[in-house]
Amino acid sequence: MSVAKKEYKRITTKTLVDMKKKGEKISMLTAYDFTMAKIVDSAGIDVILVGDSASNVMAGHETTLPITLDQMIYHAASVVRAIQRSLVVVDLPFGSYQSDPKEAPRSAIRIMKESGAHAVKLEGGKEIKESIKRILNAGIPVMGHLGLTPQSIYKFGTYTVRAKEEEEAEKLKEDALLLEKAGCFAVVLEKVPAKLAKEVAESLTIPIIGIGAGNGVDGQVLVTHDMIGMTHEFHPRFLRRYLDLYSEMTTAFQRYSTDVKRGDFPNDSEQY
Ligand code: KIV
Repeated sequence: MSVAKKEYKRITTKTLVDMKKKGEKISMLTAYDFTMAKIVDSAGIDVILVGDSASNVMAGHETTLPITLDQMIYHAASVVRAIQRSLVVVDLPFGSYQSDPKEAPRSAIRIMKESGAHAVKLEGGKEIKESIKRILNAGIPVMGHLGLTPQSIYKFGTYTVRAKEEEEAEKLKEDALLLEKAGCFAVVLEKVPAKLAKEVAESLTIPIIGIGAGNGVDGQVLVTHDMIGMTHEFHPRFLRRYLDLYSEMTTAFQRYSTDVKRGDFPNDSEQY
């Protein structure tokens, strides 16, 4: 008897734009490794972001700045090996596109070639327009990222909500339009007022994926380790925790340690 193979319809950048047209919300989560990506993909999440938040979550750095292009490629390749359906978007790390627009396509091409990912994400608007154009000219889909852009944390000086003032809100709207016109297939809006995010989402034809940007946008993204409660010292208002894995894992590790020390593990059925 042959076992019917499950068919997965892959998510593409076009799927996301079509979802926006149909008013269907887009789900996006981060993953940095094979095992997590397999679970996220099989749960039916539309987009997996190999975020440079790996710098914090995986490597324990205070900011996203230290992660390198080689490290991002390692994470991305691990994720790509796991997925059957989700679209995989990879962050171009700090320093791989800002200083020289010619370097941007070189960095993006390395990500696509060496990891097998489907698109890249860059932080910024007008100031990186040339880099975005060159990457798109190389045939690589680009997701934008506006609002709180963590690679510029030392310029902002704080992780508080962006674009609360009129001037910054106007610049954000102009940048969002510029990204759409340049050819980006979607834009992440991070930590901006919900009203502004809704206005941006309504004025563009490409999807706006929010994180701390309210419910008037076309989709949502969270850092997986935060939403499953593996991290537990980070409590922004926008974060909904679906699990408390920090506590559950701590209890499991303590039980294991107790069992080992008591000589209860392994038992007769757990040995050869
Ligand atoms: O790196 C990341 O995880 C991100 C999300 C927070 C959008 O850019």
